[in-house]
Amino acid sequence: MIVSVELGERSYPVYIDEQNSFVDLLKATGGTSFVVVTNDTMAELYAEELSRWESEITGLQSVVVPDGEQYKNMETVMSVLDSLLEAKLDRKTVVIAFGGGVIGDMTGFAASLFLRGVRFVQVPTTLLAMVDSSVGGKTAVNHAMGKNLIGAFYQPIFVWIETRFLDTLPEREFVAGCGEVLKYGFIGGESMFAFVEEQFQDVLARDRDAVREVVRRSIQIKADVVAEDERETGRRALLNFGHTFGHALEKMYNYSGILHGEGIFWGIRCAIDLGFEAGFIPTDLKARYDRAASKIIYPELPSKPTVESLFSYMFSDKKTEAGKLRFVVPTTIGESIVSSAVTKEQVISVMNKVFA
Ligand SMILES: NC(=O)c1ccc[n+]([C@@H]2O[C@H](COP(=O)([O-])OP(=O)(O)OC[C@H]3O[C@@H](n4cnc5c(N)ncnc54)[C@H](O)[C@@H]3O)[C@@H](O)[C@H]2O)c1
Repeated sequence: MIVSVELGERSYPVYIDEQNSFVDLLKATGGTSFVVVTNDTMAELYAEELSRWESEITGLQSVVVPDGEQYKNMETVMSVLDSLLEAKLDRKTVVIAFGGGVIGDMTGFAASLFLRGVRFVQVPTTLLAMVDSSVGGKTAVNHAMGKNLIGAFYQPIFVWIETRFLDTLPEREFVAGCGEVLKYGFIGGESMFAFVEEQFQDVLARDRDAVREVVRRSIQIKADVVAEDERETGRRALLNFGHTFGHALEKMYNYSGILHGEGIFWGIRCAIDLGFEAGFIPTDLKARYDRAASKIIYPELPSKPTVESLFSYMFSDKKTEAGKLRFVVPTTIGESIVSSAVTKEQVISVMNKVFA
């Protein structure tokens, strides 16, 4: 399957379990050299894969960075750039991000900086990266002041997805990725909502066909949104459904103890309840939303969240505008709006109930 991300001259294909060869696609780029950026976990698990690529593509080398969100920073980006500079690579270099969202975000950012920008390819290996982060061109690293605060919009030249990579993904990471899948159910229109209603359990059970289909559908939704609003001046903000709450949770636990996708599960519950509380969701849809929300897997939190602190953490999110919180709340089936028309009291009340 191929989904196309339509961005004029920066358009690119996303290959999902395609039969053609990744190596041939790389060679067809005409790159003079190729650098795979990955982490130590992936380098060990996929040592054979990496050595096959190295043997089949002249001039391909790997750069291995430490695994973990705590290494998603400028220091690691600088170490990648050091490696590229030391290898004396030129502007026809193609950089390949082989890993989850952390590797994808960081590698894309490094590629945007090296010699003012070289081409890069995303090879996402977590469910979260397959359905979300590898598409759309948001690249970034974290700063002590907050997550993803330093970055660039920089699109890959193609995305290569093989769902077999998920076979080695730990269960907790897989389930967390389902948080983003559920998000697409709420923002992606009737057909996606129905798919999630019917097949979310199959996806959770890692049924290969269901996983492949949900990856395709999610990417199609993301590609459509990104094609319309690449730099998030409008519609793209819908992709942040559940994220205002989710990011606050991640920050509260200092980005450890809760995974990004786990925060999204909780965030979705809060966003739905806020939709009711603020009167955006008509009552006749309540039952259907509740059924969809019942699929939420609430990960255990390291400790009971303090609601007032969570509220204050929301203001450090870069999605605030002129100091105002903006929430993505569902309205009709499969659709949402971005609104600042919610009161602090409503937000606090929702969180008090959800985190009771
Ligand atoms: N750019 C975007 O649009 C966007 C969107 C959503 C999230 N993100 C970012 O993505 C990051 C989270 O990504 P993630 O959830 O993929 O986390 P991750 O990249 O940290 O990967 C999770 C863990 O799984 C391991 N792993 C990856 N693939 C594996 C495989 N196939 N087999 C076994 N282990 C594997 C990784 O080494 C890591 O330990 C966050 O930094 C978040 O900010 C970016």
